[in-house]
Amino acid sequence: MSRTLHFALHPYGVGGPGQHGLWKHPRVPKNASIDINYYIRQAQAAEHALFDALFIVDSQFINATYPAHYLNRLEPLTLLSAVATHTRHVGLVGTASSTYNSPFNLARRFASLDHISGGRAGWNVVTSFDTGASRNFGLEEHLDYTTRYRRALEFVQVARGLWDSYEDDAFPADVERNLFLDPSKLHRLGHEGEHFKVAGPLNLSRSPQGQPVIFQAGVSEEGRDLAAQVAEGIYAPGGSLEQAQEYYADIKRRTAAYGRDPEHIKIFVHGGPVVAATDEAARRREREIFEEDNDFDRNLALLGRSFGAYDFSAHDLDAPFPDVAHLAEKGGRTGAAKIIARATARKLTLRQVAESVGEFRRSPFVGAPETVADTIERWFSAGTFDGINLAFRTDDDLDLFVDGVVPILQKRGLYRTEYPADTLRGNLGLPVPVNRWASTEAQV
Ligand SMILES: Cc1cc2nc3c(=O)[nH]c(=O)nc-3n(C[C@H](O)[C@H](O)[C@H](O)COP(=O)(O)O)c2cc1C
Repeated sequence: MSRTLHFALHPYGVGGPGQHGLWKHPRVPKNASIDINYYIRQAQAAEHALFDALFIVDSQFINATYPAHYLNRLEPLTLLSAVATHTRHVGLVGTASSTYNSPFNLARRFASLDHISGGRAGWNVVTSFDTGASRNFGLEEHLDYTTRYRRALEFVQVARGLWDSYEDDAFPADVERNLFLDPSKLHRLGHEGEHFKVAGPLNLSRSPQGQPVIFQAGVSEEGRDLAAQVAEGIYAPGGSLEQAQEYYADIKRRTAAYGRDPEHIKIFVHGGPVVAATDEAARRREREIFEEDNDFDRNLALLGRSFGAYDFSAHDLDAPFPDVAHLAEKGGRTGAAKIIARATARKLTLRQVAESVGEFRRSPFVGAPETVADTIERWFSAGTFDGINLAFRTDDDLDLFVDGVVPILQKRGLYRTEYPADTLRGNLGLPVPVNRWASTEAQV
C-alpha cells in the first residue's frame, strides 16, 4: 500500500468530555491538566512512537459542570512552546478560535511556535463551540454559524498573508554590504475585508516549513466547506466505518472541487484504542472504563453543552425532551440536531436522552494487538481516514498500543519506522506553501 498511516496523540489530562471517572484513577496525577511535565511526557511518548503530532484542544468558556480537563488547563500555545524545547520531531498542534482572537496576534503566536519548534506547528482552527465564550469577549450573543465560518475563512487567509510577509531570502545580513534586511523582500498585506482590516507586514519571517499547518474539525455544511478550502488536516468525528467513509469521501470531493489536491488534506478520525493480551481481556477493560465514567448527572450536564451550556437539571426528567433547539442554533447545532431528531422520532424523555448520551458504545479499536492492527488496516484500506487522533485512558494504555500494535503495523509496511522529515508538514507529506511574493525564479 503506497499510503502510510498517520497518528496524533490527544492528551486529556484529568478527563475530557464523557471521561467522568478518569481523575479518580490512581495512575492519573490530579494536576495533570496544568502540569507541563505531563504534556512533555505525552509529547515524548508520541515522538518515541513516531507519531505525527500532539494535539491540544481548547475552549474559552467553562462553568462548574464542564469536564475536569476543561475546568483547569494550560493555554495551548504557551504549553506547546515549552513542549517544543523538549522534543525534536513530533508536531505540535494547538487549538485557537478564529472568533475570539485577532489575526495579527494569532498569526504571530503560531509563527513563533513554528520557529521555536523548527517547523512543527499546527493550528486547529475552531470557531468556538461554546456560545458562552461570547460573554468573555464583551458580546452578549455568540456569532451565528454563517458569520463565524465566513470570519474563519477570512481569518486564515489574513494569517497566511501575514506569514508570507518576508520572502525566504529577505535577510542577507551581509556585513560587507551593510545590508541586514533586503527591504524589497518585505511585503505589506494591506488586507481590507468583511471582518478584518490588516495592513501588515508581520514582524516575523517564515519558518522552516514555510507556514504552520492548518487543521480544522467541522462537521456542518459550513464546517466541511471551510475545511475543503483551507484545511491541510482534519479531525473527523469518527463514528461507524460507513460514517467515516462518507465523511472522508465528501471532504476529498469538496477539496478537489476547490481545485486542491485531495492528498493535501489528511483526515484523522478520533480513536480510543484499548489493547490487552486477549480480545476478551480488552473488551472487559473497555467495559470497566465505561463503568468508571457512567454518571447520569454528568451526562445530563454534558448534554447541555451542545445547547449553549444549558442546565437541563431544572426540567422534569420523565417529561418529553424539552424544546430547546433555539439554544443550539449558534452552538453545537450539528450535534444538537441529531439529538433532537432522535428524541422526536422515538418520543424520548429527557432522562432517556441523557442516558443515550452516556450509553455504552463499543469502539472498533479494541482487542489483542493483532486484532487492533487488523481493524486499523481494514478501516485504513476502506478509505475512512489517513490517520487516527488517539486518546488513551492512561499512559499504560498508550504503552500497550505502542509496544503491541505499532510494531505489527510497521512489519506490514503500513506505518513508518523513522520520521521521513524534520517538520510537521514534511512528515504529513504536505508541500511547503510557495511565498506569494517570491519571484518565479525564487520559487524554483
Ligand atoms: C476531534 C475534534 C476536536 C475538536 N476540538 C475542538 C476544540 O478544541 N475546541 C472547540 O471549540 N471545538 C472543537 N471541536 C468542535 C469543532 O470545532 C466543531 O465545532 C464541531 O465539530 C461542530 O462542527 P460544526 O461547527 O461544523 O457544526 C472539535 C471537534 C472534533 C471532531
